[in-house]
Order: sequence, then C-alpha cells, then structure tokens
Amino acid sequence: MKIITVTNQKGGCGKSTLSALIVRTLSAEGYDVLAVDCDPQGGLSSLLGAKQKPNLYDALLGDIVTPEQIGAFQILGADHRLDKIAYTLPPYEIETILKNHKNQFVVIDTPPTVQGISRAAAIASDVILIPADISKTTLTPTIYTIEALTAIKKAGKVLYIGKAPKADSHGFIKSVYDEFQDGIGKSYAGFIPRSANAQKAAIGQSKVPSAISEIIRGLI
Ligand SMILES: Nc1ncnc2c1ncn2[C@@H]1O[C@H](COP(=O)(O)OP(=O)(O)OP(=O)(O)O)[C@@H](O)[C@H]1O
Ligand SMILES: [Mg+2]
Repeated sequence: MKIITVTNQKGGCGKSTLSALIVRTLSAEGYDVLAVDCDPQGGLSSLLGAKQKPNLYDALLGDIVTPEQIGAFQILGADHRLDKIAYTLPPYEIETILKNHKNQFVVIDTPPTVQGISRAAAIASDVILIPADISKTTLTPTIYTIEALTAIKKAGKVLYIGKAPKADSHGFIKSVYDEFQDGIGKSYAGFIPRSANAQKAAIGQSKVPSAISEIIRGLI
C-alpha cells in the first residue's frame, strides 16, 4: 500500500482538485485506489461524487465502515460532522484507520491546516504533495507547510498549479514567481497545468490530460 497525502495550509490552492486527478489517474490505470477525504468541507467527496454515510467520520469514531464504491475506485468520504474532531485528531488516528484496508494506493485530501487530521495524514504517508497556486498570499503558508512537515521528518514536494511564466503572462506576476523559486527551493517538484480540462477531469467529465497524469506518475 502506498499512501499519498495532498496538503497545504493555504486554502483554495488546488488540493482537492489534485487529489481527484490522482485518484482518477491511478484508477484509470487499473490500480486499486482508496480515496480518503479528511476535509470537513468534503471537497474530494464532491469532486468524486461520494454520498455515502457512514463515512470517514464514523470510522474515526470506531465504527466499521465499508468505503463507498464509485466506478473503479473506493472512497471514505467526509461531511461537516468531521469538523467536530478534525482539528484535534490525535497523530496516529489516520494510520490506525488505514490498517483496516488493503488497497494498492490511498489518496488523502486534507483541509487547509497542518494541524490535527492533516498532521495525522502526513504521518501515515509515503508521499506528500503540496499544490501551490502562484500568488502572493500562497507563498508564506506553503513555506510553513514545508517546515511543519520537516518537523515531523517528512519531505513534501511542491507542485505549482499553472505554467511557468515567460514574462507577466499565464496569470502570474513574474516577480511573485521568482519569489516562489527562491522560497520553495529544493522542494519544487514540477507543475500541474491550470485549465478547464483539468477541472473537467477532476469531476470525471473527461480523461485526465496526459500532461497531468505524467507528472503525477513521476512523483508517486
Ligand atoms: N489544475 C487546475 N486547473 C484549473 N482550475 C483548478 C486547478 N486546480 C484547482 N483549480 C480550481 O481552483 C479552485 C480551488 O481548487 P480546490 O478546491 O481544489 O482547492 P483546495 O486547496 O482544495 O481548497 P480548500 O483549501 O478550500 O480545500 C477551484 O475552483 C478549482 O476548480
Ligand atoms: Mg479542498
């Protein structure tokens, strides 16, 4: 079993979308994938179409929960009830839950915090991906996320959401991009194109673009 967590303290930087793209890439290749939504907002559950209750919240309370089967993958979904325990969850609870499962890959989406359930997911993980949209407000939380992972002896790989700009193009300001290159340093691992096709693929309305599936396969 290989456990992949997608995390960043920054909100709205592309965590759930990237998580959904990883689930769809791996399950389309025939791997047995379990998606785990650790966010009380339920972003990954919405993108993948999960509806079942009981879900991760009930599993964390000690119930035996069979994940919801959606097409070729399974999911332990989330809903707002998870908010009651997400921020104070002890560090080994996600590892404990995953001991009940035998999938080849587990893909975990996290809420915009590095504490509680996000930390527990990181502790359980083999690979940690940190998506970061290139904007002034994203740099500081992304660096904090790298440091928080380092403190628990984990190395996160940062993926920029969008193309590297040539000049002030692609929706980024060149000087902000340069600040990212300086601040992220050796944690930089590549970029995921920002496109309507990526959004469509995340919700299963089209195939994952090869530019995205190739970078995902190279990192996990
Ligand atoms: N590769 C991409 N291409 C196009 N749009 C994207 C891409 N990644 C994310 N987005 C868009 O950016 C917005 C935020 O994405 P998403 O919900 O995945 O972020 P998040 O980090 O999970 O947010 P939160 O912290 O609230 O959980 C959404 O509108 C999503 O469709
Ligand atoms: Mg999300």
